[in-house]
Amino acid sequence: MSRLIGEPLPRVDAPLKVTGRATYAAEHRLPDLAHAVIISAAVGKGRILEIDSRRALGEPGVLAVISHLNTARLPYRPHKGWIDPTVGERLHVLQDDFVRHWGQPVAVVVAETLEQAEHASHLVGIRYEAEAPSFTVPDGESIEPQGGYPANYSRGDADQALATAEHRVDCTYLIPRENHNPIEPHATIAQWDGQRLTVWDKTQFPTNVAEELAAVFGLERANVHLICPFVGGAFGTSLRTWPHTTLAALAARHVGRPVKLVLTRKQMYFGTGYRPETWQRVRLGAHSTGELTALKHEGIAETSRYEHYIEGLLNAPRFMYSCPHVTTSYRLVPQDVHTPTYMRAPGAASGMFALECAMDELAHELRIDPVELRLRNEPKIDESRNVPFSSRSLVQCLRTGAERIRWHRRRAEPGALREGHWLVGLGVASATYHTLRNTASARVRLRPDGTAVIETAAADMGPGTYTSLTQIACDELGLPPEKVQVVIGDSNLPRVPPHGGSQTLSSVGSAVLAACLAARSARQERAHSGAIAGSEIVATETSQPGDATKRYSMHAFGAVFAEVMVDVDLGIVRLAHMVGVYAAGRIVNPRLAHSQAIGGMVGGVGMALLEETHIDRRDGRITNANLAEYLVPTNADIPVFDAVFLDEHDPHVNPLGVKGIGELSYVGVAAAIANAVFNATGKRIRDLPITLEKLL
Ligand code: MOS
Repeated sequence: MSRLIGEPLPRVDAPLKVTGRATYAAEHRLPDLAHAVIISAAVGKGRILEIDSRRALGEPGVLAVISHLNTARLPYRPHKGWIDPTVGERLHVLQDDFVRHWGQPVAVVVAETLEQAEHASHLVGIRYEAEAPSFTVPDGESIEPQGGYPANYSRGDADQALATAEHRVDCTYLIPRENHNPIEPHATIAQWDGQRLTVWDKTQFPTNVAEELAAVFGLERANVHLICPFVGGAFGTSLRTWPHTTLAALAARHVGRPVKLVLTRKQMYFGTGYRPETWQRVRLGAHSTGELTALKHEGIAETSRYEHYIEGLLNAPRFMYSCPHVTTSYRLVPQDVHTPTYMRAPGAASGMFALECAMDELAHELRIDPVELRLRNEPKIDESRNVPFSSRSLVQCLRTGAERIRWHRRRAEPGALREGHWLVGLGVASATYHTLRNTASARVRLRPDGTAVIETAAADMGPGTYTSLTQIACDELGLPPEKVQVVIGDSNLPRVPPHGGSQTLSSVGSAVLAACLAARSARQERAHSGAIAGSEIVATETSQPGDATKRYSMHAFGAVFAEVMVDVDLGIVRLAHMVGVYAAGRIVNPRLAHSQAIGGMVGGVGMALLEETHIDRRDGRITNANLAEYLVPTNADIPVFDAVFLDEHDPHVNPLGVKGIGELSYVGVAAAIANAVFNATGKRIRDLPITLEKLL
């Protein structure tokens, strides 16, 4: 039978999705279900003086108004999942009268119907003693982040090298806060049976939700069951377990019935994390021939006062280009906000925007073509660790992309290409994202009827986990796709890492591969021993990375080319074309990979041109917490994109040779567009998004 890995198999779950039979968190039906609505704090900082529930409780159907005044203190045992900040403590909900950020849940109304709960929530009278919250990025008191990524890195002497450099650029870049806007909102249904808790919750990390709820409520882990077979987009917002999940369980226990709690689009801007606002200063020194002599990259990001959210903002600058003198420093400014979180290509999307714009500024200063400048700084090894790359195909990505966008049309002088009242510009940026792999387990059941079931606590928020795991299993077991069933999204299944950081296929795929191999040899043994094939063969395997991560630097690379048109009079920016060329190891499914890449590129367009969460700095209110005013790209904003995957063989990253695509395809897009806008207009916009006001 021909192999399925590498084939554009259509999504195996597509029929369920297009016929509406795929059940998302809020869609599970339970008898006697009550509905909960969160009341969000209407001050940005302060104390709750009074909660008057009398009117609300008098309304038809209302079952309870739950707040710190009438709930027991929850155990909130220490628990930190893979995705929780190492420093600080998660928000404890309804445990005291403190308001730490605008929109913090301060009460929950439970009623027979959603409409009754919603109506009653407006009748609860809450009085606050308000204080002025402070928002001080980048100038406020900053701290050195602890744990995870190093706050400071240096090799050589960047300051000295900058002082003596033939050419220098020194630029500061601002990226506003951005919010994830998946189509499916966060939702939880919670049901108690004595000390046992079952939750249907939207998550990218099923086992972690069960562990977190066990810790919050002081339950045995085995007594909490999380079910989440489908996720309607997430981009990182469903990695951590947020307060609303606890609130749903709390409300269900309070009223003694199963409870459903769905966040409104507005509430999704308050309680569930976001990409932090960042300030970055990049200084580059170079010879007139283009070789970098110095790189100094500083970054400052917002975090909450109760947790230090850190991300790999300044990881790429350390290994991206060859440079003898490099310093990076990363700082956090705690302010009166809720904790930021991972949002697609966390760290890399922001950090590479600054680095790749600075490279373009240097190219302009040196009068060297921006593609050529990157080629001249291609390193032979990862100079930050003195180890080789497991594979690195950036040069091929740049060359292929330049050809496909017809880069030769580009004029070095900004504003030189014009079509009618449109200025035309071309821009390029490199992309990279580290190849993650973590310990994962999977179980394979070979049934007597010749079918197989693959079980693992993974999730599928859109990349096609169901399908890619099916392909891997089919190839190993020698079965057609219709004989293999993949079961995921359940905390009782074998444990895997979070469905984020583009590591699902590298981690879970490797575990599925191992379990299939084990099942196959068990089947052979059984055949040899002449035993009657009457019962199921079950094989569970755990797969973990070896020491290759110590010997090699593992990253996926790409190059993004953007062609923009800017209206001479109005400053409107239109994308004419974009080419993304990616080298991400083996491509298990080109159809899914293409879809992932296009999605990432569209997300990057949002970052470049549209997305910005507005905070009213007087009181912390988010003024555009809706899809009418928080702009994301729509079909009309997006031309046909060209997403290309180079053939890349990497024997070191994991047994499948895959590197991950989801994050990679987001990186570099904003810089490529900003660089194209400069090429079109001569205007260098260093604060995102690039709006027409900034261009006029
Ligand atoms: Mo993503 S930020 O890896 O869910």
